[in-house]
Amino acid sequence: MGTVRTQGIGNRESGIGNSAQPVASSLDSHLPAYGGRPPIPDSLSCRQQFPILATKVRGEVPLVYLDNAATTQKPQVVIDATSRYYARENANIHRGVHWLSERATEAYDGVREQARKFLGAEHAHEVIFTHGTTEGINLVASSFGEAFVKPGDEIVVTEMEHHSNLVPWQLMASRRRAKIRAVPVTDRGELDLDALGALLGPKTRLLAVTQLSNVLGTVNPIADIIALAHDRGVAVLVDGAQSAPRMPVDVRELGCDFFVCSSHKMYGPMGVGVLYGRGSLLDQMPPYEGGGDMIDTVGLECSSYAPLPAKFEAGTPNVAGAIGFGAALGWIEDIGRATIAAHEKALVEYAVQRLSALEGVSVVGAPAERAGVVSFVMDGVHPHDIGTILDEYGIAIRGGHHCAQPLMARLGVVATARASFGAYSTSEEVDALVDGLHAVRRVFPL
Ligand SMILES: Cc1ncc(COP(=O)(O)O)c(C=O)c1O
Repeated sequence: MGTVRTQGIGNRESGIGNSAQPVASSLDSHLPAYGGRPPIPDSLSCRQQFPILATKVRGEVPLVYLDNAATTQKPQVVIDATSRYYARENANIHRGVHWLSERATEAYDGVREQARKFLGAEHAHEVIFTHGTTEGINLVASSFGEAFVKPGDEIVVTEMEHHSNLVPWQLMASRRRAKIRAVPVTDRGELDLDALGALLGPKTRLLAVTQLSNVLGTVNPIADIIALAHDRGVAVLVDGAQSAPRMPVDVRELGCDFFVCSSHKMYGPMGVGVLYGRGSLLDQMPPYEGGGDMIDTVGLECSSYAPLPAKFEAGTPNVAGAIGFGAALGWIEDIGRATIAAHEKALVEYAVQRLSALEGVSVVGAPAERAGVVSFVMDGVHPHDIGTILDEYGIAIRGGHHCAQPLMARLGVVATARASFGAYSTSEEVDALVDGLHAVRRVFPL
């Protein structure tokens, strides 16, 4: 059992929930006996820029937000950019000749250029705005499938993928009469690279793989994986939902063919994301959806399509979301992706160290490289109960299958508890989590 005292935490008998005391406020009084805290660089003293982080949960206890893999909170600059757009710039883009429409169009296309630079893409037309990672993957699965996948072909996925990087391929495979093959995950929670090598064969058309596991925090050696796939003539889609907010990403350096990410996991608004696609492939792929903006000319029976990127952006896009996303990209760049990566690495290592020291708590997986996310299980306690009790203390974690049921099956669990960090997370919040777990244990004794 860890030696941490758990001041300020009641138990079920003493009326947990009615009299829950702030965990985060009295942390200095019960620092761990070992290790200490990771240094938190000054540049990351950014909490005051996030109004929501000052929230008291149910008006009682400070919010300890450790659910950043689900969505991150938004800094004031993002909130301001979005509301400024609606207050002063709102107009539909591309179709207007009036001043407001031109301004909105300019701002929207400006974010495309910003996203191009952020991802290291060569051309702005290779950056397609989507509703998020899920839509980006569905777009590629559907359109790449139609262009390049024949009956009997294979798509390779991995056992650690989010459902969003599995189901679209399954839908496409059943339409195209293709097969899905899956790279196994090792006991450490890493991809079995030998098995990957063996799976990539002459029938493989595409490998769909995450850069960072949303369950285990595993950072996959994505550049090596892409190089291996390209050696076999296989295209690669990288699911960057968790990596884009946590580490520098350069799609040209990686050499991937597709990269997808979501604004809402990158300190930006919900409902917007980006698909990077290699221009030479996107050019050969048919439109995903039909409607305004993706057309060149339209007749009653057939139409011709606009060039990239408009070909893949049918209908009125989420302009306000894109503009907020631009503010979020600027915010991330100001702090620095390498700085955020180092900060989250220190935090996750500290969390692993503290969680591992608790009796009856097991950290799930032991990957060589882990970023920003840690899953754990507690003997005799369902992760939903962990989450519910922690919530009494204002601590927001996630318990469940994390949209990764095949990985749960591989790990032999139905669910895990998951803490995930952001640029504003602190080691005090890790301490609060550990204190909260002592409270959970009092409700469910070993
Ligand atoms: C690895 C991964 N891929 C895809 C997604 C889906 O992202 P979105 O819901 O933003 O489309 C998530 C969301 O948690 C994720 O973690």
